Amino acid sequence: MAKTNLPLDADRLWADVMDLAEITDPARPYTRRSFTALFLEGREWVDRRFQEAGLTTRIDTAGNLIGRLEGRNPALGVIAIGSHSDTVPSGGRFDGIAGVATGLEIIRALRDAGIQLDHTIEVIDFLAEEPSEYGLSCVGSRGMTGSLDDTMLTLTEPSGETLRDALVRVGGDPNRLEMAKRDDIRAFLELHIEQGIVLESQSLDVGIVTSIVGIRRLEVIFQGEADHAGTTPMALRHDALVAAAATVTSVRRVAEELAVEGTDYFVATVGILGVDPSASNIVPGRCRLVIDARTTQPALTQRFVEIIDLESAAHAAAARVTRASFAMLSDGPPVACDAGLRAALRQGAEDLGLSLTDLPSGAGHDAAFMSRICPSAMIFVPCRAGKSHAPEEWSDRDQIAAGAAAIYQAVKALDSQIR
Ligand code: GLV
Ligand code: MN
Ligand code: MN
Repeated sequence: MAKTNLPLDADRLWADVMDLAEITDPARPYTRRSFTALFLEGREWVDRRFQEAGLTTRIDTAGNLIGRLEGRNPALGVIAIGSHSDTVPSGGRFDGIAGVATGLEIIRALRDAGIQLDHTIEVIDFLAEEPSEYGLSCVGSRGMTGSLDDTMLTLTEPSGETLRDALVRVGGDPNRLEMAKRDDIRAFLELHIEQGIVLESQSLDVGIVTSIVGIRRLEVIFQGEADHAGTTPMALRHDALVAAAATVTSVRRVAEELAVEGTDYFVATVGILGVDPSASNIVPGRCRLVIDARTTQPALTQRFVEIIDLESAAHAAAARVTRASFAMLSDGPPVACDAGLRAALRQGAEDLGLSLTDLPSGAGHDAAFMSRICPSAMIFVPCRAGKSHAPEEWSDRDQIAAGAAAIYQAVKALDSQIR
């Protein structure tokens, strides 16, 4: 339903989201992978728009693009709004981008209304929120919260470049990461599409996020022996893919067992499966899997890892291959959103007559990391059929504008509340 009384310009906000979507790999819309030339082109576009809105821009040492508008009383600290402009491969136009465009539109709406806040306000485009080619997600928000360590910087992408070198390429400085760590942010707010069906199925305008899932990523490598697919008898094979395939099945079964409907949330996915050498006439010699396990209950992840550890070892033995690695790539605990900021978002939405509900997030977000250094909260807007991380991802102009307007109201209220 069209909301006509919003304190910001829905068309201007929508135009930003649509314009940025044009900066995509044309063969795989909508793709703007972090650290690529397209990503940097998108960043230039965002930077330009930030400056046109009157923001002073910079890239911090963790590679985050930050637009800043000085407040009347800078000693009060910063209210920050943001999300990310990178996408998954063949992703959508809204995931992350809607949150960055929201921050930008709030700046313009404040300016149009002749409002100068007491607090300094920053709009942040976090670097590489989606899992990057280096195997790590939320690179920028990890950096801003002191959670990007040296081991992570040594991660490499398939052609061998380290994350450390990639960070330099996008304007960061891995040798001075401590400078990206902030202690002056008093509140962080993020708008995001829901990526689920709760709001749409209940015809609600916005969701106030209660918590964000914890995500653990595991790497499993099976090492067998590449061999001729026509001449090697079945009994003599050391087929790494046989062990990997059985492990995929274990992940599915164990996750289903742990997901006790209505009590705890647990999901697990094998989204990366590399087969080497990957030729139709060669017995697979090596396989690499990445498992993504998410929950609101860390004890469930612990249990999951223990079972998958045992079962994948057994699958390796049965296939007569070695399990060369069973390693944790990253581990973020579940996070509760700040109660005070949730109340401010709820009040902001209610002031505008928006319908709402509280709901948890099964997706990861920069807000989860930001909560390590400041009160953080999120607002969700509806997302058609819950579809996300796919080109069909969709949210209506007025749905995004309504969520953005609720943040606008909350920012104005927080400006006088936070002292
Ligand atoms: C972020 O998109 C995630 O993986 O949840
Ligand atoms: Mn995403
Ligand atoms: Mn996102």
